[in-house]
Amino acid sequence: MPVTAVIGGQWGDEGKGKIVDTLCDEMDLAARYQGGANAGHTVKVKDKTFILHQLPSGILHPGCICLLGPGMVVDPIAFVEELDQLRKLGIDTAGRVQISLTAHIVTPVHKAMDRATGGVIDTTRRGIGPAYGDKARRIGIRAFDLQDIAGTGKFLVDRLKIALQQGEVIAKELDDITTEVERFFAAALRITDLVGDTIATLQEGLAAGKNILIEGAQGTLLDLDLGTYPFVTSSHPTVGGIGTGLGLPPGSIDRLVGIFKAYTTRVGAGPFPTELTDEVGQRLQKEGSEFGATTGRPRRCGWFDAVAARYACQVNGFTELALTKLDILDNFETIMVCTGYEVNGERVPGFSAAVHALEQVTPVYERLPGWRKSTSGLKSADKLPKQARAYISRLEELAGVPIKQVSIGAERHQILSL
Ligand code: IMP
Repeated sequence: MPVTAVIGGQWGDEGKGKIVDTLCDEMDLAARYQGGANAGHTVKVKDKTFILHQLPSGILHPGCICLLGPGMVVDPIAFVEELDQLRKLGIDTAGRVQISLTAHIVTPVHKAMDRATGGVIDTTRRGIGPAYGDKARRIGIRAFDLQDIAGTGKFLVDRLKIALQQGEVIAKELDDITTEVERFFAAALRITDLVGDTIATLQEGLAAGKNILIEGAQGTLLDLDLGTYPFVTSSHPTVGGIGTGLGLPPGSIDRLVGIFKAYTTRVGAGPFPTELTDEVGQRLQKEGSEFGATTGRPRRCGWFDAVAARYACQVNGFTELALTKLDILDNFETIMVCTGYEVNGERVPGFSAAVHALEQVTPVYERLPGWRKSTSGLKSADKLPKQARAYISRLEELAGVPIKQVSIGAERHQILSL
């Protein structure tokens, strides 16, 4: 199918990088439409582990052109680090990367502001909220503005000076900023050649019937409008973000894959109905290595929340799902699935993104037997233990969308098609 989109169904960290990587073999173009260096997509290839923050995972596939769309906020410093890292690992990115002219730029000022103010939400401190804030206030710096550095640099220097004078709140971060600003200019100089018209590139690809992969970052429940605001990111990871974030008509998407982890995790603050603060939660965290790929923060863990999953399927219109990290549940005797919510003993309808309502709910669980067998070496889905198949079928039924792929380990080949 020419256009496939992959979107996280939970609070991010669903394992999108791995699924995207398996799809990329057939892709001519891969594009990101939102977010920035707050993302951390881990892809394991043989003895090498790649953590991609801003580049689409398609970069690991020679011949795949990678686009950073207008809806992204691009951090030049982190971007050149990522390019250098990939080069060290033997990946040739030359001629395969294009950054949208109109993507907004994350400056050292944004990162300082995020460090100073991101505590309540527990953001990734990558400057995402402040950069999108400047975009909404129409005072942001865009990728084509970086070309000014190659000229006089005056416009950008003036912009940064104004931003630096802006608030007392970042005053204590100013020392750090001075050195970071130098790095910012050096990095910006290195990426100006990569800036181009990604909308035109994508439209040409579409017209030529090329295979295009669209990669979401973060997840549905972190969407600025549809997630658990204010405990969200500042962009639109859901399907609606693709239209504006890439200039691609939503009707041109043929296949929309929702990614769900076989249990739930959340990093940062905010409501999480199925969170387990007991030893079961700790076991999921340990066995699932649930530590942030970008910040190293421990992820909060809990059982699969089918109420939230159904909501994610509804608002995105997923045509199929992929379930990741099933193998992490291999040794559990019993597995719980949240099938409904209650408030004061009374059932409440579906998922509500209104935080005050979500904070009140108690999950209603269904108990399923575990399979107590290793699944990570399996080569085909028909070899899955019957309890594992029953678990997958139940999740499908509750979510209302078929599960077509199940990931059973971090390696590329550890994936089963259903
Ligand atoms: P920000 O995107 O850095 O502004 O962070 C806002 C919220 O989204 C925080 O709770 C972060 O932990 C969360 N978040 C941002 N990016 C990711 C991600 O890639 N995976 C999981 N959580 C994320």
